[in-house]
Amino acid sequence: MLRKTTTILVLAALAGLGACEADRMSEKGFSLPEGNALNGKEAFIYMHCHECHTIAGEELPTLALADPPYIALGGKVTRVKTYGELVTAIINPSHKLAKGYPVDTVTNGGLSKMPLYNGYMTVQELIDIVAFLQPHYDVYVPQYEYRIYP
Ligand code: HEC
Repeated sequence: MLRKTTTILVLAALAGLGACEADRMSEKGFSLPEGNALNGKEAFIYMHCHECHTIAGEELPTLALADPPYIALGGKVTRVKTYGELVTAIINPSHKLAKGYPVDTVTNGGLSKMPLYNGYMTVQELIDIVAFLQPHYDVYVPQYEYRIYP
């Protein structure tokens, strides 16, 4: 009897562990504090993000040495760009590439041409940059023209 109970307990513990393993990579519970968009714009310019990016509706200083793949940030999108996606685009650029560009324009050897800033961008700067970028995305519902054939 005791043996059986022990086996059940061990199995239950293992099942619990299995669940923990599966949840370990979950994005659940991830939430950033509110950022400051003005500081975000400053950080964006300070880090020369505009060497490669334009932003719909923003005047950014021109850079003399720009050799762009100008990737537009913001503008009309058909679906909300979540902050999770924006954070990921910045700290793990190769995870999911920006849509609508030829692969050669945005990648080099299979990786995003966007440099990694993780070594020196502070978390606060990241939060502020995301707060600055997000309102530039304008979600719209595409209007289709339907033709009804009699
Ligand atoms: C040397 C060029 C370069 C610089 C500098 C650069 N990026 Fe990028 N960025 C890219 C390229 C190329 C892509 C498209 C490929 C991809 O999605 O990673 C991209 C994609 C992005 C995207 C995703 C766009 C989308 O529609 O999915 C965001 C957000 C972004 N960059 C933010 C930044 C920020 C913030 C900085 C500055 C801290 C920065 N980038 C600096 C080249 C650059």
